[in-house]
Order: sequence, then C-alpha cells, then structure tokens
Amino acid sequence: YFETFGCQMNVADSDRMELLLFHSGYIRTHLRDDADLILINTCSIREKAEQKVMSLLGQIQPLKNINPDMMIGLTGCLAQQEGERIARKFPGLDLVLGPDAIENVAQAIEVAKTSKPLVWTEFDSAREYSIPNMQDNRYQGPSAFVNIIKGCDKFCSFCIVPFTRGREKSRDADEIYREAAQKIANGAREIILLGQNVNSYGKRGLTKPTQFHELLRRVASVPGIERMRFTTSHPMDFTAETISAYHDLDVLMNHLHLPVQCGSNRILERMRRGHSADHYLKLIDDLKTAVPNISLSTDIIVGFPGETDEEFRKTLTLMEYVEFDNSFMFAYSPRPGTPASEIEDDVPEKVKSERLQETIKLQKSLTERNGKRYIGRNVEIMVEDATNRNGADFRGRTPQYWMVYLKGGKGIVKPGDRVKVQVEEARGHSFIGFYRN
Ligand code: 5AD
Ligand code: SF4
Repeated sequence: YFETFGCQMNVADSDRMELLLFHSGYIRTHLRDDADLILINTCSIREKAEQKVMSLLGQIQPLKNINPDMMIGLTGCLAQQEGERIARKFPGLDLVLGPDAIENVAQAIEVAKTSKPLVWTEFDSAREYSIPNMQDNRYQGPSAFVNIIKGCDKFCSFCIVPFTRGREKSRDADEIYREAAQKIANGAREIILLGQNVNSYGKRGLTKPTQFHELLRRVASVPGIERMRFTTSHPMDFTAETISAYHDLDVLMNHLHLPVQCGSNRILERMRRGHSADHYLKLIDDLKTAVPNISLSTDIIVGFPGETDEEFRKTLTLMEYVEFDNSFMFAYSPRPGTPASEIEDDVPEKVKSERLQETIKLQKSLTERNGKRYIGRNVEIMVEDATNRNGADFRGRTPQYWMVYLKGGKGIVKPGDRVKVQVEEARGHSFIGFYRN
C-alpha cells in the first residue's frame, strides 16, 4: 500500500517502487487495512508537507498492534532529510529510504525483516532513476510520466530539494526513448517528461551528449505518441531552441509551467534564482510571440525574509503582466539547512498570510478572465477518466492544461480519446462543456 505526498516526481517514484516490488512478488493493494507493507513516499518542501507525514505516521503505527507482521517504510525527501532521527522518533518504522535508495527497495525490505530499522540515505551519483531491462506491461491511464533528470544543482536559497535529491544527473536519451516507447506501446497516449529542472537536461555527464530540445524532438518521434509535456522548468536554463520546439512539434502541448517565485529583483537575488524579473518577462514575451496561444502557469513564494510590501507588490504586477492561467502560491517556510533559513524569518505570519490571500485573489481573477475567452468555443481534450462531478460523464485536459468536465459521450468516449468539447461554463481552472462529435 502506497501513500504518496508531494510532487509528480514522487508519484513516478512510487510507480517505480511498485514495478520493482511486483518483480519481487508483491502485489499492490489500495486498501490500507489489507496491507502487510505500507510505503509512505514523502515530501519536505514546506513545513506543512512534513507535518502531514508526521500525522499519518502517528495514525499508521498502531496498525502494527493488529498486524504485527506488517512493515512500514518511509521513502523520499523527508526520509532523506530526517534519516536516523525519524527512525528513532517512530519505532514502528522498519525502513527509511532516501530517493537514491528507492531502487533497492526490495533488498532493503529483506534486510529490514531481520535488522530493523534499515536507514539508507546515501546518495549514489551513478543512479539515474532508471530501471533498465525490467519488463513493464502496465497500463496506468492515458498519461505517463518519464524521468529525464534527477536532482537539482540550482540551490535556490529557500529550497531543500538540492539536499534531499542530491546532484543533477541526466538520464541516457536512448533509455528515455525506450521507456517512453514502452509506455506508449502499453496504451499511454501522452508522455510527461519529469525533472526538478528539466531544462538543465544534458548539461553534464551524458556519454552521448544530448540537449533538452534535442531530447524533446527525439521523444516526439516515438511512434503513436499524441501529446507531450514537461515539468518543471527553470528560467535560467530555458533556451531559444526550446521555444522553437514548441513552435515545431505538434505533439508538444501549448502549456508551460515556469516558476518565477517573485517579482522583485532584490528578493530574486536573495533567493539566488540567478535571474531578474526582466529576464523572466523577456522569456515570456519571446514565448508568447513564438507560440501565440501558449498557456502559462507559475509558482510564487510570498513573505521571503526581508520582503517589503513594495517588493511584494512587484509580484502582483508581474502576475498581472504575464496573465498566468494558473499559479501555485506559497507562504515562505524556512527549511532546515538551506541558506535562507540562516536569515531571520522576519515577515510576520499574519503578513505572509495576507500576501498569500492577495495573490490567490489576483490569480483567481486572472484565471476567470482567461477562462471566459473559451466560453462558447470548441476545445480538444484528451479524456482521462469517467467522473460524475459537476454533472459530467468524463473529464480530460485541453492542450493548455485546463481541466474540462464533459457532459455526454457515454458509450462512445473512452479514456485516451481526443474529443471535441463545446465549453459552456468556466469554474476556477476547470470548464464544463458538451460533447461534440
Ligand atoms: N517555502 C515556500 N515555498 C517553497 N517552495 C520551495 N521551497 C519553499 C519554501 N521553503 C515552492 C517553490 C517551488 C515549489 C515547488 O515549491 O515555489 O517552485
Ligand atoms: Fe528547488 Fe530551485 Fe532546484 Fe527548483 S530550481 S528544485 S526551487 S533549488
């Protein structure tokens, strides 16, 4: 049984563990009470994420009283960050595995059966989140993740990821192609390329040098691929060639998630982002020129140490200028061991929360404004699954990543199909519409 917190990388890691464990004779259950092995794949990006894991651990530990043979494992970023400490705090834990130990999950379980807890948080620079030569016949829906790079070398001053995921390592392009082709052959239609900073792909360490935009062209040539996306990007490594790829590659969907974090140059510098607001805006202008209907989303942090009200306003101005379709907005949360955590966290919680509310309000109005443009228009979606939310029958995403709730099409439409929908209504970042054949 898996509990997965955090980003898409963790979803992909849980998936990799499922495959590895399947080959060792395990079968995944979706019922916690049935499980004799519970793996909690964790996130530590903000304090809140950490608290969620701690409270889940508190709930899960007592299950051992009912089933004493049950094992509990903690994996991922919080496991890496806490190591022995968390094993001592929760004596019910049998294993604690950092991201680079995930490939050894099956062996780790065997060892932990006789000598628990097994704590494995060594980084292994040879690892690249890849399991070559392992047969994978699973179909897990129309959209599939493929890792292309692990780790992060950017060291933004607020971020724990470079410490929990270690140094950057790009995966061999042939191996990426093989995995993407296998997933398409198993029934997926869309490939989402994953990494903490995908644009840094190929900078170092590959025996056969390949740049990110070359990789995009390569994966786009997988027979049968209908859609391709990638996440997450960094403004410093985003090249003109990647912008051209949007223009040239039909399967590359017109959406980009490009975190900016804030709109003030002084704060960007203190965040060690390596770029100014102007650099970001120039990129956005170039993108909008090359790909007129591109949809943009971002990440925002409010209340970074020292952020003044005037500096915060610059974030709002930037958001308005770009007209993001969607933003993920966070109050700054000091993370242990990061450079920013050495500076006093001096923006009061009340101010952080007010600023956060203001960005949320602004984003809501931008989303509403952008969404209205689609009302009455036909859009294409790739159907993800059946649903009865919002009075719909199915749901799926447009190329621009808007979620669409589709009424009609029962008995005709199935997951993976690309169908036309007439948008009737916009609700937040979702549309409701009718099936058009
Ligand atoms: N506090 C708040 N938000 C953070 N993020 C990363 N670290 C922190 C932190 N310490 C946000 C950034 C990043 C996203 C994944 O999480 O916006 O882009
Ligand atoms: Fe964290 Fe910055 Fe790396 Fe993103 S680019 S994972 S914010 S250090």
